[in-house]
Amino acid sequence: MITGVGSYLPKNKFSNESLSNFVDTSDEWISKRSGIKNRHFVEDNENTSDMAFFAANKALENAQISKNDIDLIVLATTTPDNTFPSTATLVQKKLEINAVSFDIQAVCAGFIFALSVAKSMMIEGMYKNCLVIGADAMSKLLDWKDRSTSVLFGDGAGAIILQKFENIESKYDDWGILSNIIHSDGQFYNLLKTTGGVSTSQKVGFIEMEGKEVFKHAIDKLSTSLDEALKNSNKNIDELDWLVPHQANQRIILAVADKMKIDVSKVISTVKDHGNTSAASIPLALDNAIASNKILNGNLIGLHAIGGGLSWGASIIRIGTPKIL
Ligand code: ACO
Repeated sequence: MITGVGSYLPKNKFSNESLSNFVDTSDEWISKRSGIKNRHFVEDNENTSDMAFFAANKALENAQISKNDIDLIVLATTTPDNTFPSTATLVQKKLEINAVSFDIQAVCAGFIFALSVAKSMMIEGMYKNCLVIGADAMSKLLDWKDRSTSVLFGDGAGAIILQKFENIESKYDDWGILSNIIHSDGQFYNLLKTTGGVSTSQKVGFIEMEGKEVFKHAIDKLSTSLDEALKNSNKNIDELDWLVPHQANQRIILAVADKMKIDVSKVISTVKDHGNTSAASIPLALDNAIASNKILNGNLIGLHAIGGGLSWGASIIRIGTPKIL
């Protein structure tokens, strides 16, 4: 079951206007093309592990469990503190706990992939309390001379606590992650990537993207994966209380809502406030919607995301725990 959610945004906030002081752009262009108004960037001494640590602590607090109960940390990121070891092990160190910890990398789809991996490991039976984190400092991959990408991204982190309760009644089967579907297709590798990497240039590189192509794939693949996840959980779109999409672009969010025939009032959108935070975007939006009393304990929620790879996927979750209903 999903017993706690937490998130973190760096203090440094940049509006479209402030960005236009060093990028050849305007509030009008960014707002119209993406719906983004603000994004947050880490400070020089603030790293992905710091954001992940803050989000993890909030999730632990909200789940009301001790950090010592966590036995697994799965952290999705594209912007690790170091090339190795994993950022997850650094979060584990900062939390001062013992837990199997590792990173996974599926760019903007990272959180859905992390959920899938964590769920499988918990079903296998070895782990009971898992911290699933999405954290990215995308500002470190931005080329300020490329206005078509640098205006779209932001930094942040989000986390959830997954707990396995044994010997509970079967009527509680309909809680937690009901289904999870993930896909990847490397034939689209070049549509969204960095200009370098450890084994090619020994530099992390900058983001480059074929925006129009990514836009089309996003609408198609976000819709089909949500459909698949709904079928796998024997639910239909009308049963969803909320859809929490990857927060990349308001136009993509609206186009998918239209295609899936889900009322936009049921779609959580926070992209305006933090831009595309990659692996952090879904748990950030989830936490935001819980804090503003939109998402309530027991709500049925669809999640879906797409990113470089291309990698994409969707989950159907029932959030919270039956005991406090
Ligand atoms: N400010 C001002 N003008 C700009 C900017 C900017 N920041 N960026 C591009 N332009 C100009 C271009 O130079 C071009 O000018 P021209 O007509 O004189 O040549 C004009 O705006 C139109 O550019 P396009 O690239 O055609 O703009 P488009 O309508 O395709 O919008 C965008 C670009 C927003 C990137 C769009 O393609 C998109 O949303 N793609 C989806 C990508 C996305 O969200 N990716 C996130 C990561 S993947 C994921 O998470 C889904």
